[in-house]
Amino acid sequence: MKTKRLDFDQDKEKTIQATVDYWKNGEVVAFPTETVYGLGADATNSAAVSKIFQAKERPEDNPLIVHIASKDQLSSLTDGYPAYVNPLIDAFSPGPITCVLKCSPKIAKNVTGGLSTVGIRIPAHPVAHQLLKAAELPIAAPSANLSGKPSPTTAQHVLEDLTGKVPAVVDGGPANVGVESTVVDCTGEHPVILRLGKITRQDIEQIIPVGGTQRDVQTSVPKSPGVKYRHYMPEVPLILALRDETETIRQHQISGKKVGLLTLDSTADYHADKVFSLGTSQEDIAAQLYQALRKMKQSDVDLVIAIGLNESTAGEAVMDRLKKAASKTIE
Ligand code: TXA
Ligand code: MG
Repeated sequence: MKTKRLDFDQDKEKTIQATVDYWKNGEVVAFPTETVYGLGADATNSAAVSKIFQAKERPEDNPLIVHIASKDQLSSLTDGYPAYVNPLIDAFSPGPITCVLKCSPKIAKNVTGGLSTVGIRIPAHPVAHQLLKAAELPIAAPSANLSGKPSPTTAQHVLEDLTGKVPAVVDGGPANVGVESTVVDCTGEHPVILRLGKITRQDIEQIIPVGGTQRDVQTSVPKSPGVKYRHYMPEVPLILALRDETETIRQHQISGKKVGLLTLDSTADYHADKVFSLGTSQEDIAAQLYQALRKMKQSDVDLVIAIGLNESTAGEAVMDRLKKAASKTIE
């Protein structure tokens, strides 16, 4: 299969029409959202949805998020929801939040991986919004990477992973948030955070009381099946050094390794062989993270050591992704 790159800015009308045609014909198309690029298909068409799992090589029990253009579509896709969902959505949508709600039969079964709930999100990215509005369909879309690889923040990243596996990618420029949405289970008395994103627990607590985060919830069946899979795996080993940074770098160099450094900015000199800088603000760090993980594999370093990154410098969502990406954490 040939994969087309559709440049949104170059021909907006044609790109919208082509994407809607693909979706209505049961095909998958990757598109930008403000968090990361998604790989979308009609969430009411199970044959179309199964193409997403095939292209990504994603385990079938890991459910997909359904994307909609506006809150008006919510009631037909869910089987009722608690009253606190309204203020939650009004405060953060359109935006990087996904609400897990009871699922209506309208959603194809393979979207939810057999769960009775569905994650729904209203993206804020203007390209995503225009595509979803024109399609008038709920669009199931996981991040548009191969399973286990870092999520794509540019159309080029999608093409690296999915060329030949999907018919088209809409290029709408870089995704500016850079980490995936905050996923909130909204089926209980209080919302429970299943995955952290740009919207923090503190942000949500300003609107409504929060019942907990995934780290507090101890159940044998994970509430968010995605959490049990290995994520964001860079192709060179990544060590997260929360202490003993200089010594860790030196030891690997003594043993003949070429050492890369993943850090905030490149001013501190650790004598590494290559430096991958993420910037200084938490926004920049989140926006650059996945790009940096992908660049590592294109460089000739044997391993990368992340330094100077902790919850207060990089934020909780970035640290959550980094800990999942790291083969080892020195705490
Ligand atoms: O920002 C995002 O959320 C991006 C863009 C494309 O919207 N999407 C994304 O999708 O990150 P994905 O498939 O890579 O991650 C979805 C996460 C997984 O951890 C999945 O297990 C969880 O959301 N999830 C989806 N539906 C769920 C449900 N019904 N119950 C619990 N967790 C769910
Ligand atoms: Mg993903």
